[in-house]
Amino acid sequence: MPPPVSQPATRPKVYVARRIPEEALQILEAHCDCRVFAHEDTPVPRETLLQELGGADGAFVLLTERIDDELLAAAPRLKIVANMAVGYDNIDVEACTRRGVLVTNTPGVLTETTADLTWALLMATARRLVEAQKVIERGQWRTWSPMFLTGQDVYGRTLGIIGAGRIGGAVARRARGFAMTILYHNRRRRPDLEAETGARYVGFHELLEQSDFVVTLVPLTAETHHLINEDALRRMKPNAILINAARGPVVDEKALYKALTEGWIWAAGLDVWEKEPIGPDHPLLGLPNVVALPHIGSASIATRTRMAVVAAENLVAGVTGRRPPNLVNPEAWERRRGAEGGGGQVG
Ligand code: DGY
Repeated sequence: MPPPVSQPATRPKVYVARRIPEEALQILEAHCDCRVFAHEDTPVPRETLLQELGGADGAFVLLTERIDDELLAAAPRLKIVANMAVGYDNIDVEACTRRGVLVTNTPGVLTETTADLTWALLMATARRLVEAQKVIERGQWRTWSPMFLTGQDVYGRTLGIIGAGRIGGAVARRARGFAMTILYHNRRRRPDLEAETGARYVGFHELLEQSDFVVTLVPLTAETHHLINEDALRRMKPNAILINAARGPVVDEKALYKALTEGWIWAAGLDVWEKEPIGPDHPLLGLPNVVALPHIGSASIATRTRMAVVAAENLVAGVTGRRPPNLVNPEAWERRRGAEGGGGQVG
């Protein structure tokens, strides 16, 4: 085990930005003095976060908290930001690294759950499940008719996965059960995935042009912002379906609206949105060929509990001078070691 960087004399102070599962809170309370924004479904106001982090050694945050340089400047003791998510586009990692603040995420534990949801969304969109339920609820189901609520087949079709990381790989493995042709596009080739699933690596444009289902699972970065734009949508087949289970800004929603209303593509299933949360007046919700979910990719009881526990373990490691298991910015750890003995931010 690597030696601790520094051993605080008193119990570290941590701020928890939302009510979290008891299992995770117990881990934190065993080692730290915790202050908790104990609300279930309200994000902590920015002002409160700025104030609370002023005296904190560690922060347990969700993707609803924007951790930027302004916030870091107001948190001189801060050693670690533990995100309860695998994605961490809510955190300015570069600013954290500069200040020697560790950043952690929760990879691995949500892979299968998120792949399940991606598939649920794909199936629901292809076979118009939400629309079908609304037909019954509105009393519009009159009889069995030959072409009533007909959708797209899934079995034997072509699936294109953009972003073949852990979750993309798990989505590909499920596609084998549907005898699908699997294409993928990724920063690097995945010979392991190719061998396991028969997935074929293709260029971005080829994937868009060949796939019946285009699934985006890339992290949100400057490069992937609006990756699915007007040009990308125009390249897709008119009966293709877009599924976004990554981050909302990966898809240009204005372009998607045009694509769906002008028939460039057939339908879209969206778990994530450019600006969350959305309300009932969002233009895409008015379209019958959109299945909309409120960012629930990893939302099973077991997985959300596990994510909270992993984030808590990362946080405890960081505030007690140990290297957290899921460190996103190892450079910050090196900085802390270099400035050995420093209390909070370094540099
Ligand atoms: C993540 O972990 O990044 C998800 O979007 C939340 O489940």
